[in-house]
Amino acid sequence: MFMRTAFLKVKIKHFLCLISVFLIVVVSGLFTHLLEYDYHTDFKYPYDGDIHQSLLQLQQNQVPDIAPINVYNYEYVIKSKNKCIVEDQTLRLVYIIKSAPENLDRRNAIRKTWGYQKRFSDVEIRTVFILGVKLGMQDKINEESLQYHDIVQANFTDSYFNNTIKTMMGFKWAITHCTNAKFYMFVDDDYYISTKNVLRFVRNPGHYPEYVKNYKFNKDKLMEFELPDDVRLYAGYVFFSPPHRHYFSKWFVTLNEYPFHMWPPYVTAGAYILSHQALVDLYYGSFYTQHFRFDDIYIGLVAKKVQIEPFHCEHFHFYKKTYDYNFTIASHGYSPTELVRTWTQQKSSGNA
Ligand SMILES: *[C@@H]1O[C@H](CO)[C@@H](O)[C@H](O)[C@H]1NC(C)=O
Ligand SMILES: *[C@@H]1O[C@H](CO)[C@@H](O)[C@H](O)[C@H]1NC(C)=O
Ligand SMILES: *[C@@H]1O[C@H](CO)[C@@H](O)[C@H](O)[C@H]1NC(C)=O
Repeated sequence: MFMRTAFLKVKIKHFLCLISVFLIVVVSGLFTHLLEYDYHTDFKYPYDGDIHQSLLQLQQNQVPDIAPINVYNYEYVIKSKNKCIVEDQTLRLVYIIKSAPENLDRRNAIRKTWGYQKRFSDVEIRTVFILGVKLGMQDKINEESLQYHDIVQANFTDSYFNNTIKTMMGFKWAITHCTNAKFYMFVDDDYYISTKNVLRFVRNPGHYPEYVKNYKFNKDKLMEFELPDDVRLYAGYVFFSPPHRHYFSKWFVTLNEYPFHMWPPYVTAGAYILSHQALVDLYYGSFYTQHFRFDDIYIGLVAKKVQIEPFHCEHFHFYKKTYDYNFTIASHGYSPTELVRTWTQQKSSGNA
């Protein structure tokens, strides 16, 4: 009798052990990784076909041969459609900042630091915040908009997994109401940005920051550099990484959602710069790229579709810098107070 119970106990132990291993393998996604398709050889993503002609047709306001597969259903609540009207027609830079209705303190910190439109008297900059809607907040947002004229809002629910809609709303707004800029920078509202370094970077992305060091930021010499108008710049901190298959990850994706072993190269969503032509191509490309809920991955998927190679620059930091901001373009994770403090310091050191 004793023997039998002991034997049974051992058996149960083994069984539980096996079950645990099985669960760990499943939950951790080890098993899922085995079932993934090879990104390098098998990648395709709907719409799967030649969209070249249709992209041109869309850009020329014609009915495209192929009907778009991805069209968002929202309408503007606040349009700010006169934001980019300027006398000499062109803007140098437009900040399109992803914010949430409740983040008034972050927007105010940005308004008085890097988002300040008149930072440089000879450079035309515009700043807008893009928002969805939140219950019970509309009166406040309307008031804020009347005061600052820098809100663009549409009627989708403001939430993390609606970020792709928010981002693409920003693209659409830029294409329809602010098409006269050379560069667009998309930024989250918890970032430190150095406008000075953004402007230096877009002058000569391929040689930033060496060229600044060499020329000691002499304005006249810098004028010699200028990217051509049709350049397709999609720049920031570039990742080429595998999807999370770990069940409890915030970024967990199923094979059904995305079956390949790598994401396409993408720029982290917190801060990236687009030239005008890149904005145009990505916007129209999105009509033929199936929606994906992570906005940075989605832009990466669209970029692959329209064959834009993301440009990597290590001076876009997705963590908080603690020292040496000299060539920092973007840095992540600032409370409004930290932002104001850091930016004020850096401005007086000549780095912002
Ligand atoms: C937003 O506007 C669209 C277009 O008018 C409408 O179809 C949709 O239901 C609205 N969404 C919400 C959440 O109100
Ligand atoms: C995204 O917005 C739509 C439209 O307002 C809404 O129906 C949906 O619930 C939102 N999604 C999330 C995850 O909030
Ligand atoms: C950064 O800038 C500060 C102030 O302009 C200067 O003193 C320092 O030497 C610079 N650091 C580097 C690494 O260039």
